[in-house]
Amino acid sequence: MTALLEMTDVRKTYDTGAVTVEALRGIDLEVMAGDYVAIMGPSGSGKSTLMHIIGCLDVPTSGSYRLGGTEVSSMTERELAEVRNRRIGFVFQQFNLLASLTALRNVELPLVYSGVGRAERRERAREALDRVGLGGRVDHRPGELSGGQQQRVSVARALVGDPTLILADEPTGNLDSVSTREVLTLFDELHDAGRTIVLITHEADVAQRAATVMRIDDGLLSEGAFGSADDEARHAVRGPGARPSDPDAPTEARHAVRGPGARPSDPDAPTEVLHGLA
Ligand SMILES: Nc1ncnc2c1ncn2[C@@H]1O[C@H](COP(=O)(O)OP(=O)(O)OP(=O)(O)O)[C@@H](O)[C@H]1O
Ligand SMILES: [Mg+2]
Repeated sequence: MTALLEMTDVRKTYDTGAVTVEALRGIDLEVMAGDYVAIMGPSGSGKSTLMHIIGCLDVPTSGSYRLGGTEVSSMTERELAEVRNRRIGFVFQQFNLLASLTALRNVELPLVYSGVGRAERRERAREALDRVGLGGRVDHRPGELSGGQQQRVSVARALVGDPTLILADEPTGNLDSVSTREVLTLFDELHDAGRTIVLITHEADVAQRAATVMRIDDGLLSEGAFGSADDEARHAVRGPGARPSDPDAPTEARHAVRGPGARPSDPDAPTEVLHGLA
């Protein structure tokens, strides 16, 4: 079985002219379908950089990144847009909701860019908001919602396209403890339903909800302190031995993010808006 996500010696160097920053200095990472992985690390350690690369929003300076068995650097812009828009759901600390749109419209947006018809969009957006417990707030704008509710809207937006992989960068960073629990419970449910989740956090109690915890320090990944020995042996930083696949992983979760014959992305979807959605 192929890993859903496989990185070998991924490096990222930012060169701003005056300064060169080695944000990632050789990341080896393997995530199997259905895994729930938390990555912890201090500010500036490279977490968001890693997340952007995992989410195909940015490219490594060197190294190999395979998603669903396909080398990301060999994907066309179209294929990348397809992956970002349909195969990955993003949840970010700042929610990234559009202030002028209702919750329903915000959740609908990814479907607009994948060309789903209006009636179906509405229905799926409503379902997604129901799932995060916001069926009664569909017509509220972000400013009329609490922080936790806004984050749940952004989780609904991440889910509405039925992505294989959910990437969350500090999803509870701006939330109080009650809202944090609500959002983490949602992630637990998504994981139980077979979704693959990669979550970044500063907080140990948030990381502990994941099956596997890794640490990133100064651009280097290492095994975390909280994962079980089994999990770590299977998922953590790649060692010389091959890892067994997980026979318990739900079948639908094993589907690769995309194959060579995947649907083309919507050529009309403006790239900057796709990035904005992420
Ligand atoms: N676009 C960029 N140009 C130049 N340097 C950058 C850029 N983005 C990030 N960096 C640098 O790369 C390093 C890693 O940044 P990154 O945003 O990945 O950290 P982080 O772990 O997400 O931190 P935080 O917890 O504060 O969000 C930092 O030293 C940062 O200054
Ligand atoms: Mg960050």
